Amino acid sequence: MGQLAPLRIAIIGAGIIGAAIADALAARGASVSMFDMRRPGAGASQASAGVLCPYTEGSPGSPLLALGVRSLAMWDGWVERLRESVDVPFSCARSGTLEVALSADEVAHLQRARAWLSAEGITHQWMEGAQVREFEPTVSTSALAGLVISGHGYVQVPALVTALMASARRRGATCETPAEIIHVDQRRDVVYVRVGDRVDEFDHVVIAAGSWSRRVRVADVPVFPVRPIRGQLLHLKWPGAAMPQRSVWGTRCYTVPWPDGSLLVGATVEDVGFDERSTVAGVRDLLDAVGELLPGAWQASLAEVRVGLRPATVDHLPLLGPLASHPRITMATGHYRNGVLLAPYTADVVTRQILDNDRDPMLALTRPERVLA
Ligand code: GLY
Repeated sequence: MGQLAPLRIAIIGAGIIGAAIADALAARGASVSMFDMRRPGAGASQASAGVLCPYTEGSPGSPLLALGVRSLAMWDGWVERLRESVDVPFSCARSGTLEVALSADEVAHLQRARAWLSAEGITHQWMEGAQVREFEPTVSTSALAGLVISGHGYVQVPALVTALMASARRRGATCETPAEIIHVDQRRDVVYVRVGDRVDEFDHVVIAAGSWSRRVRVADVPVFPVRPIRGQLLHLKWPGAAMPQRSVWGTRCYTVPWPDGSLLVGATVEDVGFDERSTVAGVRDLLDAVGELLPGAWQASLAEVRVGLRPATVDHLPLLGPLASHPRITMATGHYRNGVLLAPYTADVVTRQILDNDRDPMLALTRPERVLA
């Protein structure tokens, strides 16, 4: 008996989600063709701070928290396998988060978080003002309380996307750029993808185009509402050696230290359409916020401002899973603030769904059609 031909799969979008899915599918022997309207990682991924913080991003009992916790549990093994596949350096660590309260209201907010973490049995540590500065001396002397979640982490996203793309390519995946796909049509068992003037045929297509996903029209299917939400992110160069040792969060900004002396400060949340400019107001707000939280930041140099458009859905959950009417077209988009955190989970469920016809029960939460009124 001859060998079965590998499944031909197109992935539209080469950000963190598309790259993670491509690598996972190619590792299982699929023939993967990626398409990106710019270049890999040039959308929201290049402006991501890479925080892996489900207990900060998700609210108690929410589906987002459940998905985030599930994905975080996959991170260490996922990174280890990627490092075995390619020698592309990127920093990734479970260095924890320190959430800081600078006012009585913020203390009350942190106490509520502390109560539900205790109720859920999540490892955390509570600190009063002086203890916060002993633990993290770069924090403001005005700190009234702090909450440490040691299981949280961060990853350097641009380098991670480079590693994923290198791994996927090593396994035979291709990536065509710039190539904007605006039409996809499943007829029987074939999916037709229009790439410029030509039409390519695939066995399966994954739409992972982030904020631009609604430009990919699927024949006979309404447009899925995914809207861009701008995030501006500062890259500072910290002055001297005494950098923050972990990700520090306030109510107006969060920070992520990198081993090379960079401190990332994120991020604005702005509903301004497809406007990828940085603004004076956005930069000022982040500088004020980080200066209040970590006063040493006033001596830092401003190395760069990055801007990305987070793909948001109405309920802030991703659109993840096959279309009910077109089962050979899978959505993997709309991850909003948590595309990086949810990348290992997304790659795993999409790969199992396409190659093994295995539907993870959690896909019921992310069924794409739920957002079609
Ligand atoms: N995940 C944090 C942000 O989107 O700003």
